[in-house]
Amino acid sequence: AAVPVLTIDGPVSSGKGTVARLVAQRLGWHLLDSGLLYRLLGLHAQRRGVPLDDEPALAELARGLPVEFCDRDGEGCALLEGEDVSRLARDEKVGELASQVAVLQGVREALLARQHAFATAPGLVADGRDMGTVVFRQAPLKIFLTASPEERARRRYKQLKDKGFSANLPALIEDIRARDDRDMQRSVAPLRPAEDAIVIDSTQMSVDEVVNRILEEARQQS
Ligand code: C5P
Repeated sequence: AAVPVLTIDGPVSSGKGTVARLVAQRLGWHLLDSGLLYRLLGLHAQRRGVPLDDEPALAELARGLPVEFCDRDGEGCALLEGEDVSRLARDEKVGELASQVAVLQGVREALLARQHAFATAPGLVADGRDMGTVVFRQAPLKIFLTASPEERARRRYKQLKDKGFSANLPALIEDIRARDDRDMQRSVAPLRPAEDAIVIDSTQMSVDEVVNRILEEARQQS
C-alpha cells in the first residue's frame, strides 16, 4: 500500500513548522521541512558563488545537493557537506536566498525526487508551500494553515523578543504582507490551498488546539 502523507502548507509564520513537527511526533511519522531544502540550496549556491538567477547551474546544484538530515532532540538538523548548518539555515538572510531560488521552475523540478524520497513507512508529514498542490498532490489529507497577517507578525515579534532581538511590529506586518504577496503571486507553484485542503485559521487558536484538530482529521480518515 502507498505510504500515507499528510501535507501542511501555509504562509510565513503561520506556525506550520511547529505544528508539523508535533503532528509527526504524535503520529510517529517522518517529517519533511521542504523550506529547509530551499534554504540549504540558497546557502550552498551563495558559498559556491553561483548567481541566484542562473537556473541551469542552480538546478544542477539542487540535483547533487550534498545534504544529510538528522534529528536532534526532536529538532530537525541538517548537514551541508558534513557541516552542521541547522542554526545558520534558519537565519532571515538565508530565508531570503531560499525564496529567490524557489521561484525557478528548474530548481523546483530538481528537488522533486528528493522530496518524494521522504515518503517512507510508516508515513510522512510534509511542511511547505506546495506540498498539497504539487509535490504530494495525491495525499489523502491536506491542511492549509493560516492566520491573519497581524497575528503572524505578533507571533514573530514575540519570538524575536524572546531571543533577545529588537523588533518593530508595524515593520514586521509590512514584511509579512510583502512575503505573502511574493509567494502567492509567483507563476511557479504559488502559495494557495489545494482544492481538497482543509483550511485552518489559527488566529484564535493555540498550538495544541491546532495539533489536536489535525490529529482529529487524521483519525477520521483512517
Ligand atoms: O518555510 P521556510 O520559511 O523555511 O521557506 C523558505 C522559503 O522557501 C519560502 O519563503 C518560500 O519562498 C520557499 N519555499 C517554497 N516551497 C516550499 C517551501 C519553501 O517555495 N515547499
